[in-house]
Amino acid sequence: MTSPPFIRCRGLTRIYRKGRIEVTPLDRLDLDVPEGEFLALMGPSGSGKTTLLNLISGIDRPTSGELVVGGEDLASLSRGRLTRWRAERCGYIFQLYHLVPILSAFENVELPLLLRKGLTRADRRHRVAAALDRVGLSDRATHRPAELSGGQEQRVAIARALVADPPLLVADEPTGDLDRESADQILALLRTLSSEHGKTIVMVTHDAKAAESAGRILHLEKGRLVESAVATPA
Ligand SMILES: Nc1ncnc2c1ncn2[C@@H]1O[C@H](COP(=O)(O)OP(=O)(O)O)[C@@H](O)[C@H]1O
Ligand SMILES: [Mg+2]
Repeated sequence: MTSPPFIRCRGLTRIYRKGRIEVTPLDRLDLDVPEGEFLALMGPSGSGKTTLLNLISGIDRPTSGELVVGGEDLASLSRGRLTRWRAERCGYIFQLYHLVPILSAFENVELPLLLRKGLTRADRRHRVAAALDRVGLSDRATHRPAELSGGQEQRVAIARALVADPPLLVADEPTGDLDRESADQILALLRTLSSEHGKTIVMVTHDAKAAESAGRILHLEKGRLVESAVATPA
């Protein structure tokens, strides 16, 4: 018996309506992602990549279709339960990091834990230190975002996504604003998180080299998967 996929989409559809105009960024998409896979999503602008990430991560909800992530039927969760699910089960990494400029690296990483009940200050400190250590930035804990390079800012953002130890990470063009060397560091980190720490990762990218870091590449066009290729992780 094989275990069920970590992410299962069947006929996944998202329709936005504005007055009489209807946009269908995701059109009856079928997708299985096994636990621990590092998946890259490519496709032209407007093909539905961010829409798909937002559904998988519980930020948005499908118009129709089946969506099960980590055993949870996201299509049927209430907004409140979806928000709680997301806080515990999914870390989101953005192209432009979205760090709070007046907070230190430590405080930025600590933010998601402040929403959690039952953690002491010592628990939080311990977890933040471990997350910063995992991204190799223990020595930058007191720095503010403006005192860090872009690559370091993205590593802080990854530490923030990891600090609650979610099984799922989604990343929307995480290397889109970085030079090649910093991008390669981020990609190596994501690879390790999937191969050694069992995180399931779905990453959107326009960069073919970034996509090749993943274990599998899928292409979206007009809200549907169009082809797939197998990449060999470096
Ligand atoms: N909240 C929204 N309301 C209306 N249309 C949207 C919304 N979000 C995305 N869209 C539309 O859905 C399509 C796909 O968008 P998106 O998923 O962001 O594409 P990608 O990330 O591949 O560039 C686009 O045509 C976009 O304008
Ligand atoms: Mg997008």
